[in-house]
Amino acid sequence: MILAKPKHSIKHVAIIMDGNGRWASMRAHPRVWGHVRGSGIVADIVEAADDAGVGALTMYAFSTENWCRPQTEVRVLFNLLHKFLKRERDRILKNNIRFKIMGDITNLPVSTKNLIAQLENESRLNTGLKLTFAFGYGGRSEITQAMNLFVKENPGRDVTEEELAKYLMIPDLGDVDLLIRTGGDHRISNFLLWQIAYAELYFTDTKWPDFSVVEFDEILDIVSKRERRFGAITSAPDLKSNIEQARTNKSLLRG
Ligand code: FPP
Repeated sequence: MILAKPKHSIKHVAIIMDGNGRWASMRAHPRVWGHVRGSGIVADIVEAADDAGVGALTMYAFSTENWCRPQTEVRVLFNLLHKFLKRERDRILKNNIRFKIMGDITNLPVSTKNLIAQLENESRLNTGLKLTFAFGYGGRSEITQAMNLFVKENPGRDVTEEELAKYLMIPDLGDVDLLIRTGGDHRISNFLLWQIAYAELYFTDTKWPDFSVVEFDEILDIVSKRERRFGAITSAPDLKSNIEQARTNKSLLRG
């Protein structure tokens, strides 16, 4: 980890790590080989995000839809998560990273659930990069769950956007600034549907096992030069300023 972090306007990066299966098939290997190779670069990208001064990195490791894959593939993905937790625990703690899983992990092996609980607990007060793996995750399910929780606690009352955001799985992650998808497809695949409302989208043909720190840094560079207007006509410093401007306009127009 480098100490003097460059200033960056991109605070939350989300990544859909796609293309593992095709990467392996193109090399006449079983699909799972792509996941194995893909899992090998996750730690490099975590470090690159940390070095670039990104505040939060959320990686899509297993979607609710991935349950439909063959049992052997599901087992390999569970196993890779397990190995990552064991291998990277010390580095995560040393680098002041807060680690969390978002999603339904009920069906993971008990030993993996224990490793998750342990690392989440050990890293909970860390103030550096917020590293989150979306595992057993679906965006629609997250929003539905948030809505149900709100209704339970506030029967008969309408919810506001600000209130609902507080009921999401990890509220302090905030909005995504940049969503990267590798593997050449241009889809969102039920990832962070609420949080990507104003995200910059970046699709690369690179398949995840070939993704690199160099490409990650290049994408940050390209996207940080894009003008983000959040629905206004000139670029505002952030989404909050536009919301405040909109409120002022509305009350002025009401008279
Ligand atoms: C999509 O590729 C990728 C996944 C379903 C899983 C992503 C998981 C990893 C990169 C490894 C997990 C590692 C850790 C440390 C949690 P795909 O199989 O859909 O690729 P395809 O589109 O080529 O078929």
